[in-house]
Amino acid sequence: MSETKKLSTEAYKGVRDFYPEDEAIQQYLFSTMSRAVERFGYARYDASVLEPSELYKSKGAENEELVNEQTYTFIDRGDREVTLRPEMTPTVARMVAARRRELSFPLRWYSIPNVFRYERPQRGRLREHWQLNVDLFGSSSIEADVEVIALAHAILKEFGATEKDFEIRIGSRTFLNELTARHRLSEDAAKSLHTLLDRRAKMMIGEFEVALKEYGISLGEINAGDVPNDVRMILDHLAQLGITNVRFDPSIIRGFSYYTGVVFEVFDIDPQNNRSLFGGGRYDNLLSLFSDDLVPAVGFGMGDVTLRDFLEVRGLLPAYTPPAKAYLAIAGSDNGSISDSIALGAMQLADELRATGINVAIDFGDRKLGDQIKAADKQHIPFVIVVGANELASGTFTVKELATGEERTMSRGDLIEGLK
Ligand code: HAM
Repeated sequence: MSETKKLSTEAYKGVRDFYPEDEAIQQYLFSTMSRAVERFGYARYDASVLEPSELYKSKGAENEELVNEQTYTFIDRGDREVTLRPEMTPTVARMVAARRRELSFPLRWYSIPNVFRYERPQRGRLREHWQLNVDLFGSSSIEADVEVIALAHAILKEFGATEKDFEIRIGSRTFLNELTARHRLSEDAAKSLHTLLDRRAKMMIGEFEVALKEYGISLGEINAGDVPNDVRMILDHLAQLGITNVRFDPSIIRGFSYYTGVVFEVFDIDPQNNRSLFGGGRYDNLLSLFSDDLVPAVGFGMGDVTLRDFLEVRGLLPAYTPPAKAYLAIAGSDNGSISDSIALGAMQLADELRATGINVAIDFGDRKLGDQIKAADKQHIPFVIVVGANELASGTFTVKELATGEERTMSRGDLIEGLK
């Protein structure tokens, strides 16, 4: 037996294990996101991670890096081609299209799915991430774009960020279309220009400029384009809502072929985190994959990885608190002969406290009292209650607050109030 090679304890490349302290942060991220979006009336939905691969192979998506190089795709036992969702937008479009006759519009939906992309793992980029998806269906009004961008802003405020911490950059597919028309680019050339613009952030500026010249386009045209009308109106309305850390950036065009109008990304101002926090835009034709009914849509995705980095560098993550408020340590176990009645008494006391809403974990008393208290401290449990034969008989307990070392003696009845 001892000669068999042991398995590695490492997780699969590019995915994370969530030990309790990390999981607590995840749940904090998710609950804060939910609170912010539900304030705007968005309802939560969910779906499976598995989708038929054809969902991602629609016309227009041929050039996408995501679909061609980054999907986890396999053949199931029934010979069907299956993909682990790399994003939620095609899934939610499918779900809305399926019930388009029963649903009432404008429809406001959100979800926090995990999505899978075969990327080179690096800071801010992993192979599995959780992504808040917020989408508004059934309105082509510019106010829908404004609402969605204002909501992205509200989410970061909910986490305690200020306008100085991030910037919203708005681009426009209209601007891109005008650019390709002005330079009379063929459909193929337009698509490869699109890919080039999308990769801009990953390139050296000189390299980017040279590549642009191949299309007869100067850097100045990209940098100093006039603000298109739709973007101007959005900026104006956002300003009236008090949102000013937003600007037109013609180089924001987004990698997905389904966007049709305004697109946007939210960037962390900290140079350490040079990845976008949110990406989204208007996609008025995606639902036409499923039916002839027109259902305009606008929304965004926000990833947990970049959000966590954003909050971490600013000290905006909460300290860990364990579920247990109190730990019952068993006294009198030094010789290892804890009598059944003490253990049982501790369990009964724990149940009494739990019934009043106090979370309690108990030790089984097979270590010295000091070690039991150390264990509670290591888990950051705030209170230890010592339970021994004397305590159970007298109904008086010593409660130790670990942060201060302060000890108090309390009757059984006072414990509940004392711990609250
Ligand atoms: P996306 O820009 O691909 O958009 O992703 C949105 C956000 O997800 C990014 O800004 C980033 O925070 C996070 N993200 C993306 N890829 C990774 C990765 N490999 N590792 C960690 N985080 C990542 C979409 O997916 C669109 N479907 C969003 C959308 C919803 N558009 C309209 N509705």
